[in-house]
Amino acid sequence: MITLFDRLVAPLLRTLDPEQAHALALAALKRAPLPRPAADSEKLRVQAFGLTFPNPVGIAAGFDKHAEVPDALLRLGFGFVEVGGVTPQPQPGNPRPRLFRLDADQAVINRLGLNSEGVAAVAARLAARSGAPGIVGINIGANKDTVDRIADYVACIEALSAHVNFLTVNVSSPNTPGLRNLQQAAALDELLARVIDARERVAVGAARTPVLLKIAPDLTLGDLDDAVGVARRHRVDGMIVGNTTISRPNLRETEKAKEQGGLSGRPLFALSTRLLAETYVRAEGAFPLVGAGGIDSGAAAFAKIKAGASLVQLYSGLIFRGIGLVRSIKSDLLDFLRIGRMDSLADAVGRDAAEVTAQPWPG
Ligand SMILES: Cc1cc2nc3c(=O)[nH]c(=O)nc-3n(C[C@H](O)[C@H](O)[C@H](O)COP(=O)(O)O)c2cc1C
Repeated sequence: MITLFDRLVAPLLRTLDPEQAHALALAALKRAPLPRPAADSEKLRVQAFGLTFPNPVGIAAGFDKHAEVPDALLRLGFGFVEVGGVTPQPQPGNPRPRLFRLDADQAVINRLGLNSEGVAAVAARLAARSGAPGIVGINIGANKDTVDRIADYVACIEALSAHVNFLTVNVSSPNTPGLRNLQQAAALDELLARVIDARERVAVGAARTPVLLKIAPDLTLGDLDDAVGVARRHRVDGMIVGNTTISRPNLRETEKAKEQGGLSGRPLFALSTRLLAETYVRAEGAFPLVGAGGIDSGAAAFAKIKAGASLVQLYSGLIFRGIGLVRSIKSDLLDFLRIGRMDSLADAVGRDAAEVTAQPWPG
């Protein structure tokens, strides 16, 4: 089924307007009678945030913004699914066109602007699958015109934490003006204090929903020092490194490169992997990291793991490589373990972090 989709449907989708193609892919996933995937090798199993992931390959936020197809995505073989970003109130996002495919660069620029059906609709869908197998988290954000941004995150936590396996605090979307200022030390300190407080308040018994902080790959190292320090002080459960970049590293599609928004896909790999390694050396094992940005092969996924990621996520790679990418990454990871005579991926996490941080800054 997956091979059939990649051979027949995916090339067709790439001829369409990117947002139309995305809607069609979602519609196909809603209807496709996907079989249960083969069980993953035990060697791919990852323990993180108190959860057991069957494999380390997740789908990043933004593909299933309204939690319409988390179970279909799990059936594609992902080890976990992050739905959202969601905002408390429904909002339309930016005017179209707002999603651009840079085929020559295998990259995407988006300025969707956190278009969301709102937390009530998303919570209802997640509640309806509550208790179903598979790890599903939610990416939460703030409404564009909200007065108290932090209150928006708190509202999302109150509505959603009972229905998900983890919560991702997204302070790194470049398309909501001012949102990324929440990464600055004082603002982040207040945000995480209230977020963690809300998480504790709504916890049922000892079951606390893990909270992850997702940062931008555009942070300066000084800002990163602060962000990791604050995250450690508030004992977040993990960090995701990272979101899309506002930089435009060496793109071939020079016209589309001028579009405003966040860049993802292959040209993001080097920068996001550098930030990941920089985060790893600062976190000193206080919490696990999720690596995202430009993963489109098993080698790229393994490089993220060696730079410090316990888990990885991808989105843009699916557009260019198809959904067979998930299976091929998992099989390549098993090969890398065999070649390196390692029993589990945990043995490789962070192995190259020091080396990556010693290289010249990626440009
Ligand atoms: C169309 C699109 C929408 C996205 N929406 C979100 C979002 O709502 N919240 C978020 O934290 N990240 C969002 N992202 C960022 C991805 O989750 C991911 O961090 C980034 O694309 C880098 O991974 P990639 O190179 O594999 O795509 C979005 C990315 C794309 C391409």
